[in-house]
Amino acid sequence: MTNETTTRGAMAALAVIVLMAGISIGQVSLSSAGEASGATVRPAPEGFSLQGDPKLGRRIYKQYCQKCHGKKGDGNGLMARNLDPKPRDFTNKEDMGKRSDWEIYLGIKEGGSAVGLSDEMAPWGDTLTDDEIRAVAVYIRQFAK
Ligand code: HEC
Repeated sequence: MTNETTTRGAMAALAVIVLMAGISIGQVSLSSAGEASGATVRPAPEGFSLQGDPKLGRRIYKQYCQKCHGKKGDGNGLMARNLDPKPRDFTNKEDMGKRSDWEIYLGIKEGGSAVGLSDEMAPWGDTLTDDEIRAVAVYIRQFAK
């Protein structure tokens, strides 16, 4: 091996190390940004805002969500007794105030594990359209009003 190839090899190795360090620094800053809200949640896309038709939301809620989350949104649906953890009380203003609209939306779409919660809360993104997810999220917000 000549001196030149050794130097090139070392440079290449160094480049890889620098690259990997860069990536892991990127990940660290991403997850600590999520931790500000108490859970590691991927940040909302720019300009995200929650709008939806509460009437549609009510229909979706009755059909798919009420059995666990309860008619009044208090977490006492028929199936709730078998759940651990129990669904949150959507009527609790203080608790619900800690959740951003994005977290509510993402949790419904991708399931509890996407927002640091249990996967007893399933992802609904394959069952519901985006409009339906937004609508039911808006409907859930109304329980704490
Ligand atoms: C099989 C029962 C079940 C069904 C059906 C269900 N959920 Fe859940 N959901 C849960 C449980 C349990 C949790 C709590 C997970 C945790 O706290 O770790 C949860 C959590 C949530 C949260 C997060 C609340 C918070 O703590 O921030 C939202 C929002 C939610 N569900 C909405 C819905 C919507 C909308 C539907 C209907 C499309 C639905 N859920 C259907 C069981 C269910």
